[in-house]
Amino acid sequence: MGHPVLLEQARSVDAFDTPKLHALIEDMRDTMQSKSGAGIAAPQIGVSFQVVLFGVEATPRYPDAPSVPFTVLVNPVVEVLGEELEDGWEGCLSVPGMRGLVPRYSRIHYRGFDQFGNEIDRRVDGFHARVVQHECDHLQGILYPLRIRDLRQFGFNEELFPEQEFPDEK
Ligand code: NI
Repeated sequence: MGHPVLLEQARSVDAFDTPKLHALIEDMRDTMQSKSGAGIAAPQIGVSFQVVLFGVEATPRYPDAPSVPFTVLVNPVVEVLGEELEDGWEGCLSVPGMRGLVPRYSRIHYRGFDQFGNEIDRRVDGFHARVVQHECDHLQGILYPLRIRDLRQFGFNEELFPEQEFPDEK
């Protein structure tokens, strides 16, 4: 947080299934997995393109979270379904060691492409919808602290959740 690339609108990808795109995705996947993240967006590794990755299966960062299929999403478009919001705790690889309580839309419809240009079109809710909104926000230059409504609900992991362990963030 603080690097200007994280505040930029990312550019759309115009060529699929290229060595450059595959290399970017591999770098993102390595970074996300080494930090046990639920997702990552290209600007987080300094590349201002509309590419996000996400997927959750029993990560130590979100021990109670339901699983989300591993997904590569390029040039995403997110449409909100209904007005319902729900609060949930979020962290971010660009804001290490911290959590904040963030309202997100409960249900969304998202579309985009995988790295080969195949279309992705899903209606999701709950944690899956939260992860997609968080990652796609990165492509608009929005970090989750900008979404927090009550900044008293923002702080260091160890202070907010003293009983929980954060093995990957020390
Ligand atoms: Ni993030």
